[in-house]
Amino acid sequence: MWSLKLSDMTKIGVLISGSGSNLQSIIEAIKVGEIGAEIAVVISNDETAYGLTRATDNGIPVKVIKHGDYAERQEFDKELVRVLRECEVELVVLAGFMRVVGTVLLEAFPDRVINIHPAILPAFPGTDGQAQAFVYGVKLAGCTVHFVDEKIDHGPIIIQAAVPVLSGDSESDLKARILRCEHKIFPYAIALYCSGKLHIDGRRVIIDGVDDVLLAQQSLISCPGLN
Ligand code: GAR
Repeated sequence: MWSLKLSDMTKIGVLISGSGSNLQSIIEAIKVGEIGAEIAVVISNDETAYGLTRATDNGIPVKVIKHGDYAERQEFDKELVRVLRECEVELVVLAGFMRVVGTVLLEAFPDRVINIHPAILPAFPGTDGQAQAFVYGVKLAGCTVHFVDEKIDHGPIIIQAAVPVLSGDSESDLKARILRCEHKIFPYAIALYCSGKLHIDGRRVIIDGVDDVLLAQQSLISCPGLN
């Protein structure tokens, strides 16, 4: 069991593919001092990703690395690693990055890659977790922040939060509710990481100095946007 504490001002690399609303929530949390980190680089595999605009508007360096430019996934991963290292990144944050990361990146950043998934894992892994949950008819949906390992949406879970599925909900209502929840737990999980409060013990992630019961209660009644 070992502690995940890097430097006092952890350098984060954020990987995105789209809107970057989670990136925005991280930027805001850093601005108000809730996360002891700086974003060293935002990398997108899609040059049209709106998250790139969010980053540049906030003075954060950006890089586009298009997966289509690489014949092999490993070569794409090697370029990601090269840029992340060049920017002296210590923690890699997947914020809506719609590519599977492979062993090249995971071996370069062992236990230093975290992801947000829009479902309560291990239910509904893969793409469109929210849609899968909606179609299945669950009464509680939610999101998960977890360490990334070599299997998809599988690594040790840091934090999860649930939101209700209401009878009048459309799929997009549910997606929006889950996203608002993501914006709460992702910055929180990153803050825990950066302050050295996370310990990986096999599949379990132990959180130091946090009231587990309170955290569970907050997660379970987390209904941002609902009365
Ligand atoms: C988020 O809902 C995130 O959980 C999901 O993509 C969205 C990105 O939104 N990620 C995955 O589905 C990864 N499997 P954003 O670009 O607005 O942060």
